[in-house]
Amino acid sequence: MSCLDDVEALRKADVHGMLAAYLRWADNLLEAAKRAEDISFPAEVRTRAGPIRYGEPDAVVIVGMGGSVVGGELLKDLTWDVVPVPVLVWRDYHMPAFAGPDTLVIAVSYSGNTEETLMAFSEALGRKCMIAAITSGGILGQLCKRLGIPVVEVPAGLKPRMALPYLFAPLPVLLEKLGLAKGLKGQVEEAAALLRHMAEDLGPDVPTARNKAKELASELKGTIPIVYGFGFFRSVAYRLKTQFNENSKVPSFYNWLPALNHDEVMGWEAEDALTKPFSVIFIRDRDEALEIRHRIEATKELVAGKASKVLELHALGSERLEKMLSVLYVGEMASLYLALARGVDPYAMASIDDIKEKLAVLGMAEKARARAEALVP
Ligand code: PA5
Repeated sequence: MSCLDDVEALRKADVHGMLAAYLRWADNLLEAAKRAEDISFPAEVRTRAGPIRYGEPDAVVIVGMGGSVVGGELLKDLTWDVVPVPVLVWRDYHMPAFAGPDTLVIAVSYSGNTEETLMAFSEALGRKCMIAAITSGGILGQLCKRLGIPVVEVPAGLKPRMALPYLFAPLPVLLEKLGLAKGLKGQVEEAAALLRHMAEDLGPDVPTARNKAKELASELKGTIPIVYGFGFFRSVAYRLKTQFNENSKVPSFYNWLPALNHDEVMGWEAEDALTKPFSVIFIRDRDEALEIRHRIEATKELVAGKASKVLELHALGSERLEKMLSVLYVGEMASLYLALARGVDPYAMASIDDIKEKLAVLGMAEKARARAEALVP
């Protein structure tokens, strides 16, 4: 029997109830979509820099860090061929030069206290960008309230990565509200229905033999996971890499086709001592384009025998978001089971907290708050 089939031991080890929280993602997606649906964009927000005027944006910038901004990556892959303006994900203290009054900036910070996000937010404010925010509160939540900036409030008390449905689902809904795309809310609802169904087969009570997430975790144990995506699965591959890092506490990497066929693939020529620590997960879709199918097969041939495992994760559903989130869900749950199989707490985040604490001495978040407060009329 796999250690992942001892249900009592699993529940005890998962002290913060991460498994149960992830099994609620379908409901979380719907609730988040509703929260976004309920907010309205004002015609104007007054600031000391001048009025922010909300209209049709000519670019969208999703600003944030880590688990908070990854929803922006999913949004980009979901909408790149339907939204007529550029959608960018921005992870830095400073805003790109083009951002101005016609740019929609959505600042996403679960805690609302992340210094990079706050700095970029205050800069966007000074440039009179159309700003909105998604947060559970913190400094960002307070500033938005004082200024009258539209904010999707999400429930507090989670870790940012557990809150992905809350942080992601408002993004497509907001874009749809602004007339930048159609049918996105419908896709969120379809994907939620699929995840609800999938959750029945991924929970701790379902044994490894019938549980794809436990099976994947068992395969990955003792290896360094690399996730290879393609097309709109690029962001999914990236998110899974981060979940193996944050939940399972293992190094992990990602890349995507066709790009990796032009550089990374050379690395697999290395001697076995360098390649054997890795497992490779290929994301697959029954509708993948012929050229991608050929590339995956050719890459698998090169990797087979070099990596210690070559695995596949298959998308379910027919709509794009269903496909993306179905792959993501199995991988997310696998990252939790991998943590528990390794005897580590998927909830803990010592290294991230440690770096945040070391940086706090510079008082950047407070500086950003002061900069934004100076613009309150
Ligand atoms: O997953 C995490 O906890 C981190 O990646 C955080 O999301 C990141 O540090 C940013 O913090 P916040 O999400 O509170 O803005």
